[in-house]
Amino acid sequence: MLRTHNCGELRVTDEGKMVTLCGWVQTTRDFGNFIFVDIRDRYGITQLSIPATSEDLYQQAKKLGREFVIQATGKVVIRENKNSKIPTGEIEILPVSLEILNPAKLPPFKIENETDGSEELRLQYRYLDLRRPVMQERIIMRAKIVKAVREYLDEQGFLEIETPFFIKSTPEGARDFIVPSRLHPGHFYALPQSPQILKQLLMVAGMDKYYQIVKCFRDEDFRGDRQPEFTQIDCEMSFVTQEDILNTFEGLTKYVFKKIKGIELPDFNRITYKEALEKYGTDKPDLRFDMPIIDFTSMIHNSNFAPFLEANQNGGLVLGILLKNGASWTRKQIDQLTDYMKAPQRGAKGLVYIKNDENGFKSSVDKFFTSQELQKFFEHAKGEKGDILFIISESNPNKSRKLAGELRLETARKANIIPENTWSVFWVIDFPLYERDEETNEIVSVHHPFVMPNPEDLHLLETDPTKVRALCYDLVMNGNEIVSGSVRIHRRDLQNKIFEILKLNPNEIEQKFGFMLSAFEYGAPPHAGCAFGLDRWVMLLTEGQTIRDVIAFPKNSAGRDMMLDAPAPVNEKALNEVHIKIKK
Ligand code: AMO
Repeated sequence: MLRTHNCGELRVTDEGKMVTLCGWVQTTRDFGNFIFVDIRDRYGITQLSIPATSEDLYQQAKKLGREFVIQATGKVVIRENKNSKIPTGEIEILPVSLEILNPAKLPPFKIENETDGSEELRLQYRYLDLRRPVMQERIIMRAKIVKAVREYLDEQGFLEIETPFFIKSTPEGARDFIVPSRLHPGHFYALPQSPQILKQLLMVAGMDKYYQIVKCFRDEDFRGDRQPEFTQIDCEMSFVTQEDILNTFEGLTKYVFKKIKGIELPDFNRITYKEALEKYGTDKPDLRFDMPIIDFTSMIHNSNFAPFLEANQNGGLVLGILLKNGASWTRKQIDQLTDYMKAPQRGAKGLVYIKNDENGFKSSVDKFFTSQELQKFFEHAKGEKGDILFIISESNPNKSRKLAGELRLETARKANIIPENTWSVFWVIDFPLYERDEETNEIVSVHHPFVMPNPEDLHLLETDPTKVRALCYDLVMNGNEIVSGSVRIHRRDLQNKIFEILKLNPNEIEQKFGFMLSAFEYGAPPHAGCAFGLDRWVMLLTEGQTIRDVIAFPKNSAGRDMMLDAPAPVNEKALNEVHIKIKK
């Protein structure tokens, strides 16, 4: 070893020891009679103190620049000016030798928690960004979480089994990344969007309890909580019910919280998809605060206010939320919220407010409603003096709910009523098996065609398919979908019926899933499973802003690796080898 100790471990009890430390120069401070050098590694920072009287060492220390890699040997002494901000702040090292292991160019941004580097620059020099303590903590935390996950699953008898990356298309609904084959001209592998099919085949193979901490690849639009390659804790079990899965993975979640955060989570609530949508406008509500959506539709019969009337007459919804003590909101705050709701990605036509303050009722629709009518809205919402109501209306009920959900969340953010250091973790169950495609009106699976219908609803399969509930569940944590899973269909007869209802073409079924369906004819056990989005979970546990914060080498928001400069063109020879011609 080039060192006897790391930069975070020496304490007063080590006084008098001769030690050797290695690390990066965080700062040097030259006071004329002394140079202080802060040396940093993954474990912490230790101060070296070099007096001008040690002529050679002093000259050597003068040469040091930020991020030089150095090795210092010296004696641990108690500091005169103690630094209570760092764990090693009561001691310092008086070096007897100081060696530069490698000089360094000046980094393009500060290697400190509060850095001056833009995100693009930090992604380009990710290896420097990862030296910042805040980033190191997140990556360390990630490793600890993964270790805890393995401990729990191992204890429960799960086997960690690897599945291949070069496969065929998997049914997760995103676009595949494809890899051309050199040996088979015109043929392509697809990278797995998840190991879904393979883990089901492992159940057919009798593996009973499988898990894998695995990369998944999806060519979709990237957002703060999405990356083109991300990691799942992917799990599957045989001879289990939905209840067993919920209990097993509630157990995993609680184990990790206890181990990593020291937090004992209470038993998880369960809410139905229907309730989530009606009360909160989304299937992943943030329930750290309540503020349920209020339905005003039935109150609108013959209003002069056309948007409300239209919604009521066209089967749409008039929905709102009540912000307690919100009547003090300024015009500017209300305008900002209105602009947020009207932004193209949300597309609200407008936002109505009604407030009740010391001057009585005031609203953006005073022209259309009498004071008594405004009061009725307030009474319906159980509002009081000092509160404000925000209302949206749409002729499409799904859009109304979605908008109301966004309104609820943004209002809470702006009003600063989402408590920090609070955990809201619960299951959403009873998702519908099918929905109607908004454009074609055809029946489509909400998840994928292998999800088991709720046996209580089987009689509705042909007559009223959109009413059939699925044995499908999500775990929601502070408004993020962390886990998703289902009980799978394991019998060919039911599977065939599902394909029929989905009007899937038999050739297409054979081509896409033939191998799986044929495997299912050789004794597939009842099975079920789920997958955790590891990156999202780590992001929440480490208070990261986006999943990029918890991935060592992520892509930027346009799907580029800024450090490696990928994707990149390849030369013609390489293209020829895989039989690809680029149109010029
Ligand atoms: P699903 O597609 O819901 O289910 O994915 C499971 C979990 O993975 C996370 N996730 C993502 N995280 C980051 N970037 C992405 N692009 C991304 N996409 C998904 C989410 C999500 O809840 N095979 C099924 C699981 C199963 O049924 O067992 C599946 O992949 O946290």
